[in-house]
Amino acid sequence: MKKKALLLANIGQLLTLRSTLSGPRRGASLSELGIIEDAAVLCVGGKIVSVGKTKEALRDPWIRKHFKQITEIDCCRRVVLPGFVDSHTHPVFTHPRLVDFEKRIAGASYGEIAEAGGGIRSSIEGVRKTSKSVLTEKLVGTFRDMAAHGTTTLEAKSGYGLDLASEVKGLEAIGAGARVWPGTVVVTFLGAHTVPPEYLGRSQDYVDLLCREMIPVVAKRKLARFADVFCEKGAFTAQESEDVFRAAQDHRLALRAHVGQLSETRLAPFLLFKPASLDHMDYVNDADLAPLAASETVATLVPGANYFLGLARYPNARKFIESGVSVALATDYNPGSSPTLSMPMVMSLACTQMKMLPAEAIAAATINGAWALQLADRKGSIEPGKDADLAVFDLQDYREIAYWFGVNRCAFTIVNGIAIGSVTN
Ligand code: NIG
Ligand code: FE
Repeated sequence: MKKKALLLANIGQLLTLRSTLSGPRRGASLSELGIIEDAAVLCVGGKIVSVGKTKEALRDPWIRKHFKQITEIDCCRRVVLPGFVDSHTHPVFTHPRLVDFEKRIAGASYGEIAEAGGGIRSSIEGVRKTSKSVLTEKLVGTFRDMAAHGTTTLEAKSGYGLDLASEVKGLEAIGAGARVWPGTVVVTFLGAHTVPPEYLGRSQDYVDLLCREMIPVVAKRKLARFADVFCEKGAFTAQESEDVFRAAQDHRLALRAHVGQLSETRLAPFLLFKPASLDHMDYVNDADLAPLAASETVATLVPGANYFLGLARYPNARKFIESGVSVALATDYNPGSSPTLSMPMVMSLACTQMKMLPAEAIAAATINGAWALQLADRKGSIEPGKDADLAVFDLQDYREIAYWFGVNRCAFTIVNGIAIGSVTN
C-alpha cells in the first residue's frame, strides 16, 4: 500500500526524544525529551522526513511544491510523542484468571496460587484447545486496543502453550496478527515460562525438550526473534535458565529474561550472554548494579504486575537510575499478573510508586523500550529517517500523560505512517 504523505502541524508540545548519545538512556539523559513547541512533523512513505517549528515547515520548499499530495493534520496544539514501545507482553491467552484474582483478594500469594495448580498452568488449556485463527483474531483485537492507548510497537511472547505444537501455534498466531495490524510486533519464544503439568517433577526433561527440540524448531522456522525464560522459584532455576540461554544463543535467537520478580537471582551469569533486557527486577543484589550499568542490557520494569498482585514493594527505579542502569517501562500484559495494555497507566504507576519523573517515564516507555527490543535505529524517537510512529494525546502538557490515570487521553496514533483513530481537525 502506498502510504500518504502526512503533515502533522500545530503541535503544542512535540517530544522528539532526539539525542546525540549512543546507547540507551541512563541517568540525567533519561529526562531529556527534546521538546519543540509549535511544531510540525512531515512523514512520507512511512518514515519521518522532517521535524521542526510549524512556521518553518510551512515555508519548506518540498512541502510547498507537494502540498496537494500531503494530508495535513491539525494537531490543535496537543502533545505529540513517539508511539510507545511496549517491550514486554504476553498476549497469547484466551481467558481472564478470575479465580486467581479472587483468591488473591482473599489473601493468597501469586506463588501459593501457582503451587496449588492456578497461575500460568491454568492458562494452558485454553491456548492448547483454541485454533490458530481464533487466537489470531483475539491478538489483532489486543494490538488495536494497544494502539488506541498510544502503543505503536510491541513485543509479544508465547508461553501458555508449553508443548511444541501449541507454542508453534501461538507464535504463528502472533505472526499472522502482526501481518494484519499496521504496527510493529517483535516475537518472543517463552516456552520456558513454567514446567507444564505433564513434566511436573521432571523439569530437566522439559528443559531438554526446550533446548533440543523446541528452540531449534522455532529458530529454524524463524518464528521468533527473541527467547525468554522465567527464572524464579517454582519456574526455572538459574542453572536451567542458563541452559535455555545457551541453546537459544546457539540458534541465534536474541535473549531476554524474567529475573528477580519474587526472589533474588544473581545477574552475572545472565550478563555474560548480553541479553537485550532483564525484566521485573524487583529483587536485585546491590553488587549487580554496577555490572548491569556497564552493560547495554536494559532493566525493563513492569509495575503493573506489582499493582495487580497487590504488592507493597516495587522495583527500586531510583536506585537503578542513580546507578546508571538503563531503565525501560512495559505493561507485562498478561492474564495472571498484569491485565493492562495501557502504557500511560504503567507510567502513572512508575511516577507514583517508583518515584520516576514524568519525563523519565516517557523516555523509558519510548526510546529505552526500543533499545530493549534492539530496534532503536528505527523506533522510539521522532527524528528524520525513523519510522513514522507517533502518538497524539489530547493534553496540553506531557506531564499529564502520567497524571490522569484510569482514562485514555490518546486521541490517535500514526503507525508506520498510517493514521489510526479519529483524526479530527
Ligand atoms: O511476567 N512472571 C512470569 N510471567 C508473567 C505472569 C504470567 C502469568 O501469571 O500468567 C509475568 O508477570
Ligand atoms: Fe512477563
